[in-house]
Amino acid sequence: MNITENISVKSYNSFGIDVITRYFATFSSTNELLNLLEDYRAKNVLVLGGGSNILFTKPYEGLIIKNELKGIELLHEDSECYFVRAQAGENWHRFVQYCIEHNYAGVENLSLIPGNVGASPMQNIGAYGVEIRDVFYALEACHLKDHTMHRFGLADCHFGYRESVFKNKYLNQFAIMNVTFRLRKQPVFQTGYGAIEQELAKMQISKLTIKAISEAVINIRSSKLPDPAKIGNAGSFFKNPLIPLTHFKELKKSYPSIPGYPAKENKIKIAAGWLIEQCGWKGYRKSDAGCYEKQALVLVNYGNASGQEILDLSESIIQTVLAKFQITLEREVNIL
Ligand code: EPU
Repeated sequence: MNITENISVKSYNSFGIDVITRYFATFSSTNELLNLLEDYRAKNVLVLGGGSNILFTKPYEGLIIKNELKGIELLHEDSECYFVRAQAGENWHRFVQYCIEHNYAGVENLSLIPGNVGASPMQNIGAYGVEIRDVFYALEACHLKDHTMHRFGLADCHFGYRESVFKNKYLNQFAIMNVTFRLRKQPVFQTGYGAIEQELAKMQISKLTIKAISEAVINIRSSKLPDPAKIGNAGSFFKNPLIPLTHFKELKKSYPSIPGYPAKENKIKIAAGWLIEQCGWKGYRKSDAGCYEKQALVLVNYGNASGQEILDLSESIIQTVLAKFQITLEREVNIL
């Protein structure tokens, strides 16, 4: 456990933004974390997982600690489910693959999402009809100020669409140490999301399995989402907005093809990618900051963009979408 000073975070964030952090350290045990938190330099602590949902817009004047807790274990099982605990520093997709190899069903639709296990409950990651809350059982987290361990069950996390208590009330207050998932012995296949059915048909799958679904999801994601190892990005930059049904009906008159999906409280979820594309941003590039050519919801760093350039681009997008559709897009990515 060493604290280094004034190093670049470029390789620690999937956007590949090159800024300096005042202090940086990693931890791979609870003791190491506790020692770090007791260090006199442990002010403004930011716990980083895979760095896949963050945009650095300026140097970080504090201590960044990278969670490297590793391990996956089967805690217990009942007649229907396996209770599987993964340490927060495990790579998310590696965990999904582990589940598929062991026939633990439930996370296959969440294949290939960048980031670590510890970050998954933070924003209730979701894709192709499944969210973390559907498979979540509990997590353990360390309070960054008083260093006590806390257990959070499903109801404690207040999961919502890309939301949890860790993005709101407890923002930057906890280091998530491990997450326990409740995974099914008998899979309940979720193929309702259109693209999955089409992809499975293309793959000529004769027997549906969690592995086949995972492969379909991997194919879909790789065909339209940029690989952060090649082009810097943080997945969807904005959330899909929820608008009142009356507003949707109004918009539908001028834009008959506007995609909207019924959501709770008589609201309609609109595909933000469509709104952004309609405003002409898809494929846009200024210096190294751009709007991805195959999925407008994803902002990209082609090499040396600064966080501020990406943020400015996102602001321009928000303004044009607001002017054209009277909808305010909300960022999904954490801005620092
Ligand atoms: N669309 C366009 N143009 C675009 C992009 C999308 O018109 O450039 C329209 C199309 O009508 C398409 C619809 O938007 O049918 C939905 O697109 P897609 O299936 O790609 O999903 P999304 O709503 O853009 C969300 C999640 C993704 C997740 C996919 C699949 C959010 C903010 N994003 O994207 O999550 O993978 O659904 O479930 O909810 C992430 O959060 O980082 C992420 C990648």
